[in-house]
Amino acid sequence: MIKNIDIADIKIGMYVHDLNCDWTSHPFFRKRFLIKNDAEIAKIVEAGIHELYIDTEKGLDVSHARSVDEVNASLQQQMIEAVTSKPAPIITLSFAEELGRANRIKSQAHALVKTVMQDVRLGRAVELEQVEPMIESITESVLSNSGALLTLLRIKNKDDYTFLHSVSVGTLMIAFCRSVGMDMETIHLAGLGGILHDTGKALVPDEVLNKPGRLTEEEFDIIKRHPRDGFDILSRTEGISEIPLDITLHHHERVDGSGYPHNLKGDTISTLAKMAAIVDVYDAITADRCYHKGMAPTDALRKIFEWSKYHFDPKLVQAFMRCVGIYPVGTLVLLESGKLGVVIEQHDSNLLTPKIKVMFSSKSNTYLQPEIIDLSRPLGFGGGDKIVRHEAPEKWGINPLRFM
Ligand SMILES: [Fe+2]
Ligand SMILES: [Fe+2]
Repeated sequence: MIKNIDIADIKIGMYVHDLNCDWTSHPFFRKRFLIKNDAEIAKIVEAGIHELYIDTEKGLDVSHARSVDEVNASLQQQMIEAVTSKPAPIITLSFAEELGRANRIKSQAHALVKTVMQDVRLGRAVELEQVEPMIESITESVLSNSGALLTLLRIKNKDDYTFLHSVSVGTLMIAFCRSVGMDMETIHLAGLGGILHDTGKALVPDEVLNKPGRLTEEEFDIIKRHPRDGFDILSRTEGISEIPLDITLHHHERVDGSGYPHNLKGDTISTLAKMAAIVDVYDAITADRCYHKGMAPTDALRKIFEWSKYHFDPKLVQAFMRCVGIYPVGTLVLLESGKLGVVIEQHDSNLLTPKIKVMFSSKSNTYLQPEIIDLSRPLGFGGGDKIVRHEAPEKWGINPLRFM
């Protein structure tokens, strides 16, 4: 059985199933392993891990520990309690109406970030005039229907990952800042910080940046330089303001002090840098990388919610869940009726009752004539169904985007 244990209960002879930390923070750990000596325990403690998952069939057990299913069920319940009754942002265009513009923005922004990174490699400074109009376009798209661009940006492949990740983080920052009611000036600067946050990665050699599999500690030390390098590079940009510099320098800080480069703790990290840390990890763990498949957004949110006990600001994590929804647009969900559908729009006031396009019957294993249902409405009025859980698209061989 997979069980969740406190770091205080860790012992030699236990089999680590999951270190319960985002793998972008500790890419040098083996994924699963038997603990053989105290040095391994010390390394785990040193990495700032507070709780982890063990496999009790492959190693020692802790009888009082909760199983992974119990932990997940309780987290899901807490997530639901945290976000229900809070309004989602108002949408002015439908997903389909926004999709065309969002598609153009995705490819233009990708090209822009690629150029910026190449310029930085050649020793050139980043010019704000190049980037600012793109932030404006992204903001317009987010204000119309944030689901469209965010859904498109989840699709990345290994060659364009670094660039599209920057665009994603910029877009998520804009959506997040807006959903917590920040002013337009701050939203703009946070978007700029998001799109530029990994500029320092331009100085990381490709073979380290795109290395499939685990990094050595030396390689990870090279990656860890990027916030400082990015800050130095952007400090040379004419007209740059405090907010993008702060986001660039501090997006890898963690509230328990386990982050880098400055091991800042709690409120010594600014709100915007804490928000950037959340969206950065969310985008990184939902993306498909060459060495692992990305998590479904709902699972990623649950993980971040779990980690928020130590690494993130719990209030901001809740605010982020309200921003993207527990079942973000584009998520494949199983309904009580046995139908499968894809979330196409969040409901204004209840994130558990979005609009769904149903298109598959899990009972008869056949495609259905696609139909839009509104879970906030009763049976006979276009609703009358309920989400049981989200499903992995691979499990059913369904590409949710095809139905949007
Ligand atoms: Fe980063
Ligand atoms: Fe990043």
